[in-house]
Amino acid sequence: MEQDKRSRTGVYYVARERYADFILTNTAAIVFHFTFRVKTDNDESKTTMCPKDFPEICLNDILKVGQLPAMPQTAVAILNISRDPTNGPAEYAQIIESDPGLTVQVLKFVNSSYFGFRNEISNVKQAISLVGTRTIKNFSLYTAVFSMIPNPQCGPFDLKKLWQDSLRRALFARRMGKVLGMKEAEEPFAAALLQDMAVPLLAKEAPDAYVKLFGARANSDAKVRLSRLEEHVFGWTHAEAAGIVARQWDLPEAFATLIEDHLQVERWSHHPDSEPGRLAVSLSALLPTTGDSNWAECQLFDKYYRKVKPTSAPAIQEVLQETDQEFADFAPIMKMSVPKVSLSDRYNAIETATPA
Ligand SMILES: [Fe+2]
Repeated sequence: MEQDKRSRTGVYYVARERYADFILTNTAAIVFHFTFRVKTDNDESKTTMCPKDFPEICLNDILKVGQLPAMPQTAVAILNISRDPTNGPAEYAQIIESDPGLTVQVLKFVNSSYFGFRNEISNVKQAISLVGTRTIKNFSLYTAVFSMIPNPQCGPFDLKKLWQDSLRRALFARRMGKVLGMKEAEEPFAAALLQDMAVPLLAKEAPDAYVKLFGARANSDAKVRLSRLEEHVFGWTHAEAAGIVARQWDLPEAFATLIEDHLQVERWSHHPDSEPGRLAVSLSALLPTTGDSNWAECQLFDKYYRKVKPTSAPAIQEVLQETDQEFADFAPIMKMSVPKVSLSDRYNAIETATPA
């Protein structure tokens, strides 16, 4: 059988004639082609997805400069000065103060209960000195991305819920980075926050295909990951797309790969000491979405946490509780509401219902 071949960059080759021969002569394989069986660690479900029912999409074409929304100038300037480590609070403050909207956001951010400073901070340079240039760079970056990603209005897709999920993943990734021994986990935080930023962009560019994918995921009761469906029908995932977008926006390469690798938890679980950031981000990708009523990957998440945590690490319930609390503190800064069901409540409900 001639397998469909699509490269990692989304170029799709199919030997249509051989495929037609094959369809005519091999009934058993037709069933294979039309029924995509997805196996997870704790369950198995089916969805019918055939690659030939989807358009051929080249990621590099649909995500090229000119097609993507433009990064705000202030964010570009901050990213540029962040490449020179000798730049400090004064250089960052100069750029931020040239943008009144960002100045207000930065001051709100630093004065929030998330940091818990006793006295009010009204000076941008002082604010940057207190929380660090890296934190401010990442804050500027993700507020810029939040403001420019379009709402694709694509079937059941909900942009607000995506950002809510992303913030939860980000806070967990930062906490997890610290559990794994990172002194400072701002990069995993920002990467986890932007890990799914390509989904709305792809849904906007290929709405018919993504309506089908979102529908198939919903019909599987969230047991099938969106990335598995993308891989099956396109040969690429939104993680690879996010890497391309990050490079098109000229974000640092290390940051682009951190986002791009967010689906590779198995790989990074072998390197908790050397790759704690990548592991923290990829573990955050296993958290449930607020829109799903179940947490299909809870057992998998639990398995990896137990596998990689240092001996002295807290129980996962504690990490999830801290993530929930931080979400409540951070959500107002990003103008988000708190999800109805917390992570720790979801985890505890599953834990209680699972026979020992
Ligand atoms: Fe993702």
